[in-house]
Amino acid sequence: MSTAPFPSGPPAGGAPGAPAHRLSGVDSIRRMGLIERYRDRLPFADDDPVVSLNEGSTPLVHAPRLSERVGAEVYLKYEGLNPTGSFKDRGMTAAVSAAVREGSQAVICASTGNTAASLAAYAARAGIRGVVLVPDGKIAAGKLAQALMHGAQVIALKGNFDEALRLVREIAEHHPISLVNSVNDFRIEGQKTAAFEIVEDLDGPPDALCIPVGNAGNITAYWKGFREAADAAPDGFGDGRPRLPRMVGFQARGANPLVRGEPVADPETVASAIRIGNPARWEQAMDAMVSSGGRVADVDDAQILDAYRFLAREEGVFCEPASATSVAGLLAHGAVSPEGLDRPERIVCVLTGHGLKDPQTALDESPPVIPCEPTLKALERILLG
Ligand code: F0G
Repeated sequence: MSTAPFPSGPPAGGAPGAPAHRLSGVDSIRRMGLIERYRDRLPFADDDPVVSLNEGSTPLVHAPRLSERVGAEVYLKYEGLNPTGSFKDRGMTAAVSAAVREGSQAVICASTGNTAASLAAYAARAGIRGVVLVPDGKIAAGKLAQALMHGAQVIALKGNFDEALRLVREIAEHHPISLVNSVNDFRIEGQKTAAFEIVEDLDGPPDALCIPVGNAGNITAYWKGFREAADAAPDGFGDGRPRLPRMVGFQARGANPLVRGEPVADPETVASAIRIGNPARWEQAMDAMVSSGGRVADVDDAQILDAYRFLAREEGVFCEPASATSVAGLLAHGAVSPEGLDRPERIVCVLTGHGLKDPQTALDESPPVIPCEPTLKALERILLG
């Protein structure tokens, strides 16, 4: 590392940017919502109503420094670039479109924050009522701001996510309001498209997919997507690679029911999005990991925050703490089960939500800002030491 205050020349390992080019067919795909893009693989007919904010088609970003640390080619599926800043939009376009098709006038969910933000935006788009139940004081500021700003009714439950989910399931059984948590199969249908995109971008599946696991809907969805992509390519993907990735799920140590094999009564972690003690899709998540030759493991909050800072500072990618769990797990445990034989060469880590969702944790984990008097001297003193 240079000690000069203003190093000149290209940074070590820095790559020149690609030259600008005109829009191609691929670029225009990126402006299309995912039901439109993948309608032939989703339960929607041509004339069904579609509630969309042009979600999906997120970038798969190569991570050179992470690749170096891990000794494999690692890519980040940057789901924070969806319209409301998380992967939930994939499921929500499908669940809200289906609710509108059924004539529903209202949607509800329990949420640690991102589902609430996404529901609120898609309900606003559809012109129907949105109601979200969140654990009181336990969701990140950006998510709360989104849910309120989009006009959802936000109810702060004096209880945790698992209790909120139990309540909304009961309400939806007794009243004409559509439940759009990931217990709703349309959510899984929408979210499986992220796997299609990865297979298209890599011309085949990765050897392993690392993903944070909370309520276990997303890992269920990816596994369905990868299996469907493999079924659609019966002769394989041409290069002799395995036709399915190992599914590797990571949980926060204070909210690790799948690792323990039993529910956690009072889940606690800095990764508020995955502060969940009793995942709704428990069996399906375990099936994905076991039958793919993957694994489940946990990481503590310090490891999560290390990965969170590493991604922001070394890769230039800002995700929320829960998302960094996939990378923290990869760094701590690798992507191979203890019995695993061969090393994965190509790994995708899913970054589920944008870093701006949780500004407080970012500020808490950063050095203080530097005060400066409005003079050249004062500024020089700071920059030149
Ligand atoms: N990452 C983020 C940023 C999330 O918001 C969630 C879940 C997960 C990972 C885990 O995904 O539940 O499908 O296993 N958030 C839900 C919510 C629970 O209410 O926003 P999962």
